[in-house]
Amino acid sequence: MATGSAPGKVILFGEHAVVYGRPAIAAPVSQVAATATVTPGAPGSGCVLDLSDIGETVPVTGASTEQPLALVTKLALDVLGLATPDWRIVLHSTIPVSSGLGSGAAAATAIVRAIAAASDRSLTAGEISALVYQSETLFHGTPSGIDNTVIAYEQPVWFVRGQPPEPFSIARPVTLVIGDTGIASPTSITVGDVRRGWQADPRRYEYVFDAIARATVAAYHAIESGDLAELGRLMNGNHALLQELEVSSPELDRLCAAARQAGALGAKLSGGGRGGNMIALVEPAAAETVASALRQAGTVRTITTTVAACA
Ligand code: PMV
Repeated sequence: MATGSAPGKVILFGEHAVVYGRPAIAAPVSQVAATATVTPGAPGSGCVLDLSDIGETVPVTGASTEQPLALVTKLALDVLGLATPDWRIVLHSTIPVSSGLGSGAAAATAIVRAIAAASDRSLTAGEISALVYQSETLFHGTPSGIDNTVIAYEQPVWFVRGQPPEPFSIARPVTLVIGDTGIASPTSITVGDVRRGWQADPRRYEYVFDAIARATVAAYHAIESGDLAELGRLMNGNHALLQELEVSSPELDRLCAAARQAGALGAKLSGGGRGGNMIALVEPAAAETVASALRQAGTVRTITTTVAACA
């Protein structure tokens, strides 16, 4: 028996623009996680993925590579030089799917870590991230790579597509209340819609991407200097820019407004948008008041998490 696990994630700044080369800031969320357990299977059974939460079993041996988690399993076995072991890999996850919390990348990362543990090998965060990116292309189409990066490295990151992630200093812990609209919204759809918009009117979209990039750079400095009031204002501005990209929704707008009214320093959608989760920046003492206001405004779940410097 060997296990591997991986956290969820939120994007603090820069989603969508990051697909077009602009920077983004993301952080792991350890309150939710995916866990994979490798157990021996019957001799000759080959490798089988047991997606127990959705009651699905996927054979990895001979499986079509259209199944993202089967693909990443195959790739990991390959990289580790394992032929086809008779394994049953059981996956459990507390991360809601299609909601901007990185469920796909976390499941894939947990599987890769479990396979490495079962074969007594270790892979670097960069190696895991590169493997998981392959499955992300099946989940998302044209992912920037931010999800696999922040989850495999398990630390807050400054991310630019195609470059290694950069850790950064955090002067004061950043407390976030995450609110879930309960509406599943596949990232591939919003990313595809933004691409069509960009193709139709590249100048307008480039202008918005540049404005998001400026907010992300300013947020980096606000986090480094511990200026949470400024960080909140920047979050509100980033949300407005995402509205311009038409990836917000009435539910996300309502939750952000409710959080601000209840004392949050700022709020924005997080991830692909149109559903999924939003984040509110709060002083720790206000976290419960904001979470309760979000529940009254219709969120199906709240998570309070703190983004802090790594030990
Ligand atoms: O997986 P999500 O919904 O958090 O979205 C990832 C962020 C996007 O910028 C929308 C897409 C990407 O690949 O970067």
